[in-house]
Amino acid sequence: MARKVKINRVVGRRVWDSRGRPTVEAEIILDNGMTGRAIAPSGASTGTHEAIDLRDGGKPFRGLGVDRALANINTEISNALRGMSIVDQPSIDRCLIELDGTPNKARLGGNATVAVSMAALHAAAASRREPLWQYLADGATPVLPRPMVQIFGGGAHAGRRIDIQDFLVIPVGASTFDEAMSMTARVYDAAGSIMSDRGHLRGVADEGGWWPEFTSNAQALDTLLEAIERADLEPGKDVSLAIDVAATQLRQGQHYLLPAEGRELESEELVEFLIGWCRRYPIVSIEDPLAEDDDAGMKAFTTKMGGRIQIIGDDYLVTSAERVAAAALLGACNAVLLKPNQVGTVTETLAALTAARAAGWSAIVSARSGESEDVTIVHLAVGWGVGQLKVGSFARSERMAKWNEVLRIEEALRNRA
Ligand code: PGA
Ligand code: ZN
Repeated sequence: MARKVKINRVVGRRVWDSRGRPTVEAEIILDNGMTGRAIAPSGASTGTHEAIDLRDGGKPFRGLGVDRALANINTEISNALRGMSIVDQPSIDRCLIELDGTPNKARLGGNATVAVSMAALHAAAASRREPLWQYLADGATPVLPRPMVQIFGGGAHAGRRIDIQDFLVIPVGASTFDEAMSMTARVYDAAGSIMSDRGHLRGVADEGGWWPEFTSNAQALDTLLEAIERADLEPGKDVSLAIDVAATQLRQGQHYLLPAEGRELESEELVEFLIGWCRRYPIVSIEDPLAEDDDAGMKAFTTKMGGRIQIIGDDYLVTSAERVAAAALLGACNAVLLKPNQVGTVTETLAALTAARAAGWSAIVSARSGESEDVTIVHLAVGWGVGQLKVGSFARSERMAKWNEVLRIEEALRNRA
């Protein structure tokens, strides 16, 4: 038996995210001198039940400083983890959870705990001299994910120019990840050309998707179909559509307000409205069709559409194993979005995946709208065999770093086989 490699110390440092805001990087230094590091992402349309992203408040950086989260890493967390075995991720995460002592990482900060938790994975894989995806697979078969790629950004990511937050494509006809990327590139480029031709090109939204200069949500869906055709691909056969309604953002009291449609809808009306789109367009996946507190709406939508399309809970489930189990019991959703920073540790993220699998659901590993060069989530998707990956659009290096990492893993797997 090799000597147990132990944690020597943990260092927190301030780095900057894709929106130019401060964020937390954690670096774990092992007794043998090896290291692992990871950067916390952050959301813009966050769910109420997410782990707390600890910010300093006050004037600097509009209150978004992370000095308190960094101090927690450099003192308390570093002291608590010193001497622990680096390959015992469940114990490392349990230590973080107990040290925090709150139900939602409010004391240490979910940004501090998730960065440390993910850094531990990198250090463990380094000490085993394995790529992270292989370390995570632990002998099981790694699975390359099917990408879900944003073409237009909307909602909170684009000044609420249109109501729906994400208009995405899934290259269902691709037989390799490399082919999926080249199909996506053609559709993304064609969508940009169409907007340019019509004088509608205004740059990109927070996740790299084209800024939506549209007068309605349906116009975005129509333009997606046009872009797929202009790329010489067949909608519904080569490339299907997906949307993230992020409906919590549309909630006004008991109603839903869709300014781009000029309409206020009851929950039942929003369900019918979305079903109408599913009839007209080759939509195979809808995320957060109703708001995080609308159990009845989620159940109604899932009852009607759950046998035909993927219904993902993001704000609704916040990567919580308990919420996944409760939703499965209720009959709401049939898929979970996995965002490690929504829950604050890798082990709790894995628990949400396990709960989803127990319910017969699918799962999608996802980035946040505020991201960095960190590619940890790519390795989680492949190593855990999750099957799907959503990291935003097909522009900006915080997004491309992740797609490109999958391409490298695909090549490594091909060379092994
Ligand atoms: P967020 O959005 O990272 O701003 O929360 C991403 C999503 O809703 O999927
Ligand atoms: Zn979402």
